[in-house]
Amino acid sequence: MPCPTNHRRPCERSASTSTANLPTSCDSSARPCRVGPRAAFAWPRGLFPGQLPRGVGLDVAGIVDAIGQGVGGLAIGDRVVGSADFAGCTSAGASEFASLDHWARVPANLDLVQAAALPMAVETAYRHLDLLRVTAGQSVLVHGAGSAVGFAAVQIALLRGARVIATAGETYAERLRAKGALVTSYGEGMAERIQKLAAGPVDLALDTAPVPADPELVHRLIRGSVKRSEQDTAPTSGPLADLVRAAGGDPRRVVTLGDVKSATRLGARTSFDLLRGGVESPRTRSDVLGEFVLRAADGTFTVPIARTFALEDWRAALDVSQSGRARGKLVLLPSGAAA
Ligand SMILES: NC(=O)c1ccc[n+]([C@@H]2O[C@H](COP(=O)([O-])OP(=O)(O)OC[C@H]3O[C@@H](n4cnc5c(N)ncnc54)[C@H](OP(=O)(O)O)[C@@H]3O)[C@@H](O)[C@H]2O)c1
Repeated sequence: MPCPTNHRRPCERSASTSTANLPTSCDSSARPCRVGPRAAFAWPRGLFPGQLPRGVGLDVAGIVDAIGQGVGGLAIGDRVVGSADFAGCTSAGASEFASLDHWARVPANLDLVQAAALPMAVETAYRHLDLLRVTAGQSVLVHGAGSAVGFAAVQIALLRGARVIATAGETYAERLRAKGALVTSYGEGMAERIQKLAAGPVDLALDTAPVPADPELVHRLIRGSVKRSEQDTAPTSGPLADLVRAAGGDPRRVVTLGDVKSATRLGARTSFDLLRGGVESPRTRSDVLGEFVLRAADGTFTVPIARTFALEDWRAALDVSQSGRARGKLVLLPSGAAA
């Protein structure tokens, strides 16, 4: 399958297009293309805190209205999806114009709202399944598969030929079953329910359930300054302890996206400990976006959308997102947004 995803090519804004409303504090020389007001912005949960002012919103789909110098294969008016640099720019995805640092083309048979749901969920799920080294024939648990990342991870693990067991609430349990996963509810007793469904311990487990961020611990983890004593009191209960039990008691078979505190104490792996120098570091997988855009267009892959909001209602969207109960992607639509 062709993979029309592009990456961080140097650019400048096209002289032939309007520069009104462009973000000014962000170095446009590192932003290959820009999409205009007819765009859709999907809201990812769990943004990392950082210096203010900064933009919010990572995933963007829209119509190109400016192209950087030296960027080939793209024309004004093309439909693209990609990600904006919310960590480095004062204006990111949730704005009328967004500069993308990588993108993939959106075919005519995929609407921009559906496309906007894809980048973060696909990249995060793919990267963490790489980290777990998921291959055909393994049994893989995805905990929190009702989340955007979890829903994507189930589909990608199935595509890799894994046998997938998922925990999810009622929102998407049936859709996950229809895709081929064995599904049970999360919460008390899940370790036993999972082992029953899997007919024994699972080979690998991925925790995609949303948890409140703990940026201070994440920073210490990356710096390698988590004290030994913090790792000596492994919890015997809680979701991550359940996942370790479901994986036969081996914490190294478990990776969590967010529950860094429990992982630190249990010896499970996280997205962040791998950022430390000298430790295996998974590369980002934005290169696979194009493949999954095509799969979404032909109806074989999806990241569910909970609802759309007008761009000016971004605070209401943020509140829903932060509640941990989004039940799908939340997509912001600037006025005049096109599908
Ligand atoms: N480390 C990284 O690189 C990285 C990157 C992106 C995201 N993340 C993290 O990944 C996690 C998922 O992000 P997301 O945007 O995909 O989340 P999300 O879509 O906002 O997840 C919300 C859904 O999670 C389910 N859920 C809520 N509480 C749960 C619980 N206690 N146990 C299991 N499922 C629960 C609910 O679905 P039901 O209907 O099934 O109850 C809810 O609708 C977040 O913690 C985020 O911060 C990490």
